[in-house]
Amino acid sequence: VEASGDFKVADMSLADFGRKELDIAEHEMPGLMAARKEFGPAQPLAGVRVMGSLHMTIQTAVLAETLEALGADVRWCSCNIFSTQDHAASACVRAGTANIFAWKGETLEEYWWCTDKALTWPDGEGMDQIVDDGGDATLLLHEGKKFEEQFRMVGVSEETTTGVHRLIAMADKGELLFPAINVNDCVTKSKFDNVYGCRHSLPDGIMRATDVMLSGKKVVICGFGDVGKGSAASMRAQNAITYVTEIDPICALQACMEGYQVVTMEDLISEADVFITTTGNKDIITLEHMKKMKNNAIVGNIGHFDNEIQMEQLEKATTRMNIKPQCDKYTFPDGHGVIVLAEGRLLNLGCATGHPSFVMSNSFTNQTLAQLELRKAYVEAGKDKAKSKYQNQVYLLPKELDEKVARLHLGQLGAHLTELSTEQADYIGVKKSGPYKPTTYRY
Ligand code: NAI
Repeated sequence: VEASGDFKVADMSLADFGRKELDIAEHEMPGLMAARKEFGPAQPLAGVRVMGSLHMTIQTAVLAETLEALGADVRWCSCNIFSTQDHAASACVRAGTANIFAWKGETLEEYWWCTDKALTWPDGEGMDQIVDDGGDATLLLHEGKKFEEQFRMVGVSEETTTGVHRLIAMADKGELLFPAINVNDCVTKSKFDNVYGCRHSLPDGIMRATDVMLSGKKVVICGFGDVGKGSAASMRAQNAITYVTEIDPICALQACMEGYQVVTMEDLISEADVFITTTGNKDIITLEHMKKMKNNAIVGNIGHFDNEIQMEQLEKATTRMNIKPQCDKYTFPDGHGVIVLAEGRLLNLGCATGHPSFVMSNSFTNQTLAQLELRKAYVEAGKDKAKSKYQNQVYLLPKELDEKVARLHLGQLGAHLTELSTEQADYIGVKKSGPYKPTTYRY
């Protein structure tokens, strides 16, 4: 299929490069490739309009091509102005996989234009299903008056912690307009992507942006949830002296048991060399904090939104010098300054290429299963939304599917899984085929 013109990407001449990297990524994404094989022949998403608002990377391109291989009619934008990999976007467009509106370095105005374009099919109508990351596409549908007449939406599957928080807030107020599947809280998502993905891509981002030697430096990781755990582990692996801040005593105690010193920002503010926010909360690093930091202290965020660092206030109080794309020094009137990565936006995708394929295969296999699940429930209800088992609430995928996703990734790593005997299964009270744990188990 030739590109139709209904797209906007940076440079179509990057498509060959993108395809080469896509081919390599496919090899590292066994879950998605297995999904194509298992579900492809039945075309369960035939004719279904799927809109994606998720970092337009190589890994996401493999997800988009999987959805297309299952029959979906796909339009896509990125969920961050810096996260698009232009070669991935152009390869997908050239293959006719999806109509893509994304490039690295969008302005905020362009970002919302791209989101709107990806939401709107050429006939003026919207989509049936959304793959969202952070909830911006969902938010746009809830804020605007878009598609009031022909509201086709069957449901959304949400990728990240911050997006899930937004969905739950809407559902609690009774304002959610369609069913949502919380993909983030699949075990094979948040306990893998958020942890091991960040363990890979945080140091990658810091190093590509600054080339700083991390060994022996003092690094403060703000937040010790899933992202914070992987982030702190990666700094320790570089033999950086790693500190953690937390507000939750359980996570703080976990950090202590891992051997990290739990501190407040104030304790370390004038001593530490690197500060990374991972909280999904706002105002974690304030202007007052940055004023007190050492000259050339590195400040970055790996949480979803840039409000973890008081960027607006920093812009006003300093002179900004761009060092290279997504790396700036902000200098205070007294002459000292801080180096900020990706303008305070998630630095692993802004300064590097985000998580590697293998871990994203886990996340995106869950996304694919969630998209199939939304469709299946709708079809089973005779396409009557009121009768679907999914109403305007936030749902988890069943644990069987979580275990299936994990199982699909074991072979690649040469793991040999032990099988339960019937007697053992009876003794611990589970089925031989799983699920192996109660829903309360925390992994
Ligand atoms: P989480 O809820 O597991 O962890 C956040 C932690 O921050 C919690 O333990 C919380 O107690 C702590 N926290 C909240 N306010 C704080 C404060 N003022 N000071 C210190 N700690 C504080 O969430 P998770 O899954 O770790 O996600 C964190 C953020 O990262 C979210 O915005 C999520 O969407 C995003 N994310 C980013 C990824 C990336 O590739 N950049 C990947 C996955 C998630």
